Amino acid sequence: MSSLARKHILLGVTGGIAAYKAAELTRRLRQAGAEVRVAMTAAAQGFVTPLTFQALSGHPVHTDLMDPAAEAAMGHIELARWADAVLVAPCTADFMARLVQGEADDLLATLCLASRAPLALAPAMNPQMWAHPATRANREALAERGVTLLGPAAGEMACGETGEGRMLEPEALLAGLAELFETGRLAGRRVVVTAGPTREPIDPVRYISNRSSGRMGFAVAEAAAEAGAEVVLIAGPVALETPARVTRVDVETAAQMHAAVMKAVPGADVFIATAAVADYRVEGVAAQKIKKTGETLELRLTRNPDILADVAAREPRPFVVGFAAETERLIEHAREKLDRKGLDLIAANPVGEGQGFDTEDNCLELLWAGGQRSLPRARKSRLARELVAVIAERLGAETGKVIPLKHRTP
Ligand code: C5P
Repeated sequence: MSSLARKHILLGVTGGIAAYKAAELTRRLRQAGAEVRVAMTAAAQGFVTPLTFQALSGHPVHTDLMDPAAEAAMGHIELARWADAVLVAPCTADFMARLVQGEADDLLATLCLASRAPLALAPAMNPQMWAHPATRANREALAERGVTLLGPAAGEMACGETGEGRMLEPEALLAGLAELFETGRLAGRRVVVTAGPTREPIDPVRYISNRSSGRMGFAVAEAAAEAGAEVVLIAGPVALETPARVTRVDVETAAQMHAAVMKAVPGADVFIATAAVADYRVEGVAAQKIKKTGETLELRLTRNPDILADVAAREPRPFVVGFAAETERLIEHAREKLDRKGLDLIAANPVGEGQGFDTEDNCLELLWAGGQRSLPRARKSRLARELVAVIAERLGAETGKVIPLKHRTP
């Protein structure tokens, strides 16, 4: 499976003749399994109609910052948040200049400013324009900010000239885009992740569980695999597809999760506990279905082992990351948990009404001894990539192996 599978790609199209190739690019992105939304500048619509991109992407095209109907359907901030990556193809000299200035006078420029997703540009322009000192200064400024430039290639141009300035072919753009996710930050590392809820049986047909969907843990496992790690994902009962290149071990109870983790952890570089492990299990599980005889029924619960604390207590131990879902005093409770369980890093998130469990997005407060970083509200896949980047950074700081940051953000 390509690393573009299920990725949300926001494709920006600006006004150049290569815009026709962006239509083929849209088709190829969808073939690779990506979801594509297209935003076009006014000039781009002079070359190809929004209808073409609507048909190819399967969604209405975004063209206007001030269109109340489009904003009501999916507002520009929502669209900026939706994206796992933003690719502007073709990208004109003018659009590069506008990006350098941080202009937000049309929808696409605004989206580029508003999104935390990595930004890639596929420049396409006349060779003289590409070679001009102004364009050179602009691309250097953009590269400095972590924007990825894909191409241009050299060859014959639509304007009749030959030289550097042709937009890369869709195939090469796809490969360049996939590299935004495959950062290599955790190359050669072994990572163990727990995810989902656990189920603690009461009798053969009933159990105690919780509302964890497993989404955060699966996103973390996927991000770690994309960053080059060898990943073992130990999952409670969830309805999620296994991410590509991840070894999945399915478990039901906390005791099974504990055993699976202890088996996987020796030799691991990183342990990330995202699972919502049941704190208690039922003492003396009934061998047969319990009949409803009495008006009340008493269940006696026994404490489950703390998997995270047990891994942290091992010697030698991996870099240990815990999660803290809190309904109040987030930072205070998370810091206390970081110290008490002896963790290297804790990711705290607020839970409650419509927040945290079973939702698509979340926000995280990352804490470690002497440090803190806020990851504002975003889709769990984005947060997972940002978390993996911070883990790689902290791991590098602790082991002295600094991993070069190839991109602006994960
Ligand atoms: O103490 P609390 O349950 O709030 O801690 C949450 C963190 O501990 C999470 O990272 C969770 O995966 C982990 N945990 C665990 N085993 C338990 C309970 C929690 O690994 N039995």
